[in-house]
Amino acid sequence: MKIAVIGTGYVGLVTGTCFAETGNVVTCVDVDQQKINKLNAGEITIYEPGLEKLFLRNQKEGRLKFTQSLADAIVDAQIIFLALPTPPGADGAADLKYILGVANDLGKLLNPNNYVVIVDKSTVPVGTADKVHNAIVASATIHQAGKNIEHCFDVVSNPEFLREGVAVDDFMKPDRVVIGTTAPKAIKVMNDLYTPFVRQGNPLIFMDEKSAELTKYAANAFLAVKISFMNEIAQMCERLGADVDMVRKGIGSDDRIGKRFLFPGIGYGGSCFPKDVQALAKTADDINYDFKILDAVMDVNAMQKLHLIPKIKKYFNNNLKGKHFALWGLAFKPNTDDVREAPAYYMIDALLAEGATIAVFDPEAINNTISVYGNKIVYANNQYEALFNADALLIATEWNEFRTPDFEKISSALKNKLIFDGRNVFDPAQMQELGYHYESIGRKI
Ligand code: UGA
Repeated sequence: MKIAVIGTGYVGLVTGTCFAETGNVVTCVDVDQQKINKLNAGEITIYEPGLEKLFLRNQKEGRLKFTQSLADAIVDAQIIFLALPTPPGADGAADLKYILGVANDLGKLLNPNNYVVIVDKSTVPVGTADKVHNAIVASATIHQAGKNIEHCFDVVSNPEFLREGVAVDDFMKPDRVVIGTTAPKAIKVMNDLYTPFVRQGNPLIFMDEKSAELTKYAANAFLAVKISFMNEIAQMCERLGADVDMVRKGIGSDDRIGKRFLFPGIGYGGSCFPKDVQALAKTADDINYDFKILDAVMDVNAMQKLHLIPKIKKYFNNNLKGKHFALWGLAFKPNTDDVREAPAYYMIDALLAEGATIAVFDPEAINNTISVYGNKIVYANNQYEALFNADALLIATEWNEFRTPDFEKISSALKNKLIFDGRNVFDPAQMQELGYHYESIGRKI
């Protein structure tokens, strides 16, 4: 099939590359000329394990192209994906200006003789498919007056469920694909497009547009609830002398609960959960529904991101002035350089405000952090260099390379054998044996 993907951000690039991988011819469009030049020169613009190989191969085979011209990209396209940013506006609702801007352009460009499926891939509020439809029709009425544009397209909601770090795998082998449309022609096109991705029998779930839009928010909000619930259980464990790891295993073995997404820590971050929980709460607010669980989740997460700070302060008798900390992990989770809403940043801000100094290390997110913190903190070249002369080691992201470090090297570099672990990376019993004062989340010291 011939596909156009509008927007070459994270979702657009993964979507375009993975569709090219199954033999489709994909043209990706972006307004950012620099980005397009880089991509055309074979330079990938995001960090995502496994993506570069597919990107280079499909580009070489001529199935993956990049352009700044929307008009060129959509010529003869059977499907147009909208993978555009939907940043939160001042009121917390997703801002649709980019999506509706492109819808307006499509109204000028669509060919009445060529049926096309237009797909919302971005996470958009319930009702957006209708808005996109109406915006295209309104624009066509002005710019292509007299032509019957309304019958040459359908707008479909097809939310993505990719996780950063494993996005290629999630895309190529999805648990399910949710497709929101009731238009028979669009159902056929989407079914043909996705059949190669669900050969193991995972479902393509067809539903109406609004249900598909809400499914995406419900999925992310539910996972945020699950994490926040465990974070509160961890708080209980700390106060009751129970062990959250045991409780996690104890409840996770029940299929109805499931083992995944029960890991307590210093809160969820990233570009999705915080934004989507907030946007769903805003949608509820707009329709006068008091969605109490979402408010609680946002409160719990705000508290959890700073969970280690009172513990650190308590250890140092409430005075962190002049103390120096090593911080391992900046990205909001491992295997990404994404630092959006990263809990590590909330810790850095709190420690700096207390008069402490910090040396940081992250395998991928140093450059992104330099552009945020400049010379306010020190950047180490490796995990051990960050430790030099620090009063304690703090861990904010559970990168694999942090899991079995050289503890001798750690203790000889640190001033104290002291670790505050926000991601439960180490075994408390082992830490005790090694003579560390070790505090983690919801487990016995
Ligand atoms: C999330 C969803 O998992 C994807 O399905 C969805 O497509 C995506 O948002 C999106 O809307 O685009 P992502 O933000 O990449 O994906 O990251 P996750 O792996 O879900 O982790 C989110 C946060 O939750 C991280 O900060 C992580 O540390 C935290 N987390 C996760 C926990 O604290 N505990 C857990 O048990 C799991």
